[in-house]
Amino acid sequence: LSNALALTPPMGWNSWNHFGCNVNEKIVKETTDELVSTGLSKLGYEYVNIDDCWAELTRDDKGNFVPNNSTFPSGIKALADYVHSKGLKIGIYSDAGYYTCSNKMPGSLGHEEQDAKTFASWGIDYLKYDNCNNDGSKPTVRGDMHPAKWGYQVGNSWRTTTDISDNWESMVSKADMNEVYADLARPGGWNADPDMLEVGNGGMTKDEYIVHFSIWAISKAPLLIGCDVRNVSKETMEIIGNKEVIAVNQDPLGIQAKKVRMEGDWEVWSGPLMNSTVALLVVNRGGYRISITAHWDDIGIPVDTIVEARDLWEHKTLKQKFVQNLTALIDSHACKMYVLKPIA
Ligand code: GLA
Repeated sequence: LSNALALTPPMGWNSWNHFGCNVNEKIVKETTDELVSTGLSKLGYEYVNIDDCWAELTRDDKGNFVPNNSTFPSGIKALADYVHSKGLKIGIYSDAGYYTCSNKMPGSLGHEEQDAKTFASWGIDYLKYDNCNNDGSKPTVRGDMHPAKWGYQVGNSWRTTTDISDNWESMVSKADMNEVYADLARPGGWNADPDMLEVGNGGMTKDEYIVHFSIWAISKAPLLIGCDVRNVSKETMEIIGNKEVIAVNQDPLGIQAKKVRMEGDWEVWSGPLMNSTVALLVVNRGGYRISITAHWDDIGIPVDTIVEARDLWEHKTLKQKFVQNLTALIDSHACKMYVLKPIA
């Protein structure tokens, strides 16, 4: 959407992956505090997004949403004020149908304008709008159903797949489905299946979470932390707090990387960045260590160019310079991510 928002992919936290319907105002406040005290907010994580289950099942007699009495007793406006007072932004969730996906609160069908006004009056900065329990209306006049096809006209990001789960197979399958829409991403509108990150939720190894975060970053997916940041481990912090990987995600060009080569268990992802540099990600999806070669041919660098490589997970610029290709040894379910800089 050309509304001057999301010129780079949105970053923040979303309650769903970790808390599901057990979210409450205490969690949201403590998460806000933690985003600030850990320094994550300084790295760009600015949205504190409440997902499903924040409202009572029935509206009031004027048809307004009623924040859930037991979990959000102070109301959403007070919470928004709190989040804003800490310098962050707040997001909320609704749905185009009669009920949201949890069936535990109403959707906005028939109350669209009213709800938009309510959210605005509360100071909401971000809306995630789901599509469960709808009345069968088509999203566009022409009937294009996939959000990637029409999302840009109405939003700053759109989901490209079904929900992620906290395991390797689910994560890589979402990554693949999202990749297909790479050409549709641009400043102001992003492919957002990953929707929310699973890093820190415990279902994958450290290397697998590094692959997860790297793919999301290079794919210009919104980086919405999905774990409990109040109990974040050093390991998780190292991943979601990797400035150099975040910088690839937030590169102003806003071009989503593509999978430029796949051979058996290995794959090479790349995409252009500002200043003629290139983001490169090599992933080993197989069960044992292999060496993977990324060819300049595949990643759009003239073959005879001499390239300097910055390893974004080791945080070092490699001494060796590379011509024609770069080969790396990659462990099972692991990756390496680089920024390549042509030097001659
Ligand atoms: C759907 C969405 C999820 C989450 C849940 C909430 O499944 O895809 O991201 O918002 O609804 O019920």
